[in-house]
Amino acid sequence: MSVFSTAQHLDEALAAYSDPVDQRAGQIVQSAIKHLYAFAEEIGLTRDEWMQGIEFLTAVGQMCDDTRQEFILLSDTLGLSMLVEMINQDPADGTTDPTVFGPFHVPDAPLKKMGESILIDDDDGTPLTFTGHVRDVDGNPIEGALLDVWQTASNGMYDVQDPSQTPMNCRGRFVTGTDGAYAFVAVKPVAYPIPGDGPAGAMLRATGRHNWRPAHTHVVVSAPGVKTIITHLFDKDSDYLDSDTVFGVRDGLIVDMSASSVRFDFVVEADG
Ligand code: BEZ
Ligand code: FE
Repeated sequence: MSVFSTAQHLDEALAAYSDPVDQRAGQIVQSAIKHLYAFAEEIGLTRDEWMQGIEFLTAVGQMCDDTRQEFILLSDTLGLSMLVEMINQDPADGTTDPTVFGPFHVPDAPLKKMGESILIDDDDGTPLTFTGHVRDVDGNPIEGALLDVWQTASNGMYDVQDPSQTPMNCRGRFVTGTDGAYAFVAVKPVAYPIPGDGPAGAMLRATGRHNWRPAHTHVVVSAPGVKTIITHLFDKDSDYLDSDTVFGVRDGLIVDMSASSVRFDFVVEADG
């Protein structure tokens, strides 16, 4: 009589989930089992480590409230959020690279006239104008494209993190005209740390990583009939470009912010 092997144990568990009511749920649970078992076997997971893992995930859950989502921070710092964007945005050649959405987007930012500033509050940062066009892959301008823009003030904090800022400071939405051109005024973005006071921060410290993001401005470009692009523009002179804590940097998104204006064209593709 041979010993029941881990492979037989895996087969037994997979078989137990092989007749799901919801096909996708069954596929997801079976795949999670396969990869979790392989992970436990690969590292030779001890009982103590398994318990520490349970306690870690419990602490992640307990850190969450209406404004803090520690599971997303964990996903971000493991690079999983970026992977999900890569799988789902799946950009065509020649289009603008996507990156992470992040937790600091606020819907319904003020609709502004082209060329206006996204600042509401005084800011002693360096003024910076962003200009360019929204185009398709053949270079044709996209009319009616909505650019939803947000960034931190020059103190490195978003309005939603900082009670001293007016709500919607450093946020704005702009709609292109027939020429597809856009322009808005902001301040030069700065590098900033993502929240490090929870279990995701502890995980970063235990593994020798920092919790900083390089200086960036968030832009979501959408238009009827084209695929929405969730992206950022990064400052080429920023620290942390090669060690973004959430793995969001792409070479094509790094721009020169050393002058008073930046030019960048967003290239979108037809939907479907
Ligand atoms: C952000 O860029 O706003 C961000 C992205 C991921 C985690 C935290 C912040
Ligand atoms: Fe950000």
